[in-house]
Amino acid sequence: MRMQTVMENVLVTGGAGFIGSNFVRYFLQARPNVAIVNLDALTYAGSLENLRNLPGEERHNFIHGDICDANLVERIFAEHEIDTVIHFAAESHVDRSIHGPAPFIRTNIQGTFTLLEAARKAWAETGDPSFYRFHHVSTDEVYGTLAPDDPPFSETTPYRPNSPYAASKASSDHLVRAYYHTYGLPCVITNCSNNYGPFQFPEKLIPLVILNAVNGKPLPIYGDGHQIRDWLYVEDHCEAILTVLEHGTTGETYNIGGDNQPTNLEMVRQICAILDEQLPQSPHVPHNNLITHVEDRPGHDRRYAMDITKIRESLGWKPNETLESGLAKTVQWYLSHDEWLKTIRERPTYKEWIVKQYERTDN
Ligand code: NAD
Ligand code: TYD
Repeated sequence: MRMQTVMENVLVTGGAGFIGSNFVRYFLQARPNVAIVNLDALTYAGSLENLRNLPGEERHNFIHGDICDANLVERIFAEHEIDTVIHFAAESHVDRSIHGPAPFIRTNIQGTFTLLEAARKAWAETGDPSFYRFHHVSTDEVYGTLAPDDPPFSETTPYRPNSPYAASKASSDHLVRAYYHTYGLPCVITNCSNNYGPFQFPEKLIPLVILNAVNGKPLPIYGDGHQIRDWLYVEDHCEAILTVLEHGTTGETYNIGGDNQPTNLEMVRQICAILDEQLPQSPHVPHNNLITHVEDRPGHDRRYAMDITKIRESLGWKPNETLESGLAKTVQWYLSHDEWLKTIRERPTYKEWIVKQYERTDN
């Protein structure tokens, strides 16, 4: 029986996506004795371009595959003696879940189930559970929406998901919880607010706005733009995940957030102001003039806000970046990564989405 008290072989799922790739980069640097197996299906949202020039590249083993493939997942557990899972892989875009929920049900629910089963079997066979961890990465959207005067979401807020995406993530959280309670699988769940930063696929609000503004295209604001999100710089999320992974209590959930709640309009105006400053010669200054109100998202959640007291008080984590500093870094990153953007934007799946969602033919 293998005795183990520290993590050695980590399975990261969805590590070619936005947060997953940031996490892989962060983790290889932060934990030089850990080896990563990165399992990713490379859907429209995943790209090997996100994994170029990793620090400690020799400890990173990319496997192109699907988390719903039980044989593959079981083989990975056995061959790589996986002791830790950090599960990011998901369909993650609310608007896509409205157009077509099926892949969300498959990957987010069936895929999570497949991983849980594989972990349960593998770890039951190898015995000693002194380190094993199954870290499930989830979202604040499982809690539904807040009225203006409601207190922020805490870990005890009842689940009330409103979109197919949120419902599929809520289902996966319930499965993880059940595997802890029923089988004693050493699980932790983190529910995080909206992330932004490098490598985010440019269909989400912040990179979409940066790109459209630079190219003089309309900045589409759904409805009145007074919806509120709680924004967190992605590297802060990575640090929070590592903190919970190493120091969190199994069976617990931890909320993670940025402790700021601008409206969408305020957020977009802030990005425009940064661009005005960074690109003073642009013919599109002031970029604010590009703001255009478009039809609202069906069932659009009005307000999210996270209460991060638990993680702050029990594990000592808090965000390092302010919205101002994080946005400035993010805009700078997008302005200096032309090649990455070109590769992503030339993909037919990206172009098709932009036309479908915004009904334009000029992309
Ligand atoms: P993303 O869409 O950028 O990346 C998802 C990755 O998962 C992609 O690389 C994709 O190829 C991969 N994937 C999809 N289906 C797969 C499958 N069946 N098998 C293997 N790989 C598959 O998503 P993200 O924004 O990086 O989000 C990562 C996780 O964090 C998700 O679980 C999401 O719910 C959660 N989350 C995201 C945010 C956010 O603001 N982006 C906030 C809180 C929580
Ligand atoms: P998004 O980045 O899709 O994240 P989520 O829906 O998971 O919160 O959207 C963030 C907010 O921005 C959300 O309230 C929807 C809004 N939004 C727009 O107003 N216009 C857009 O083109 C997009 C993509 C989002």
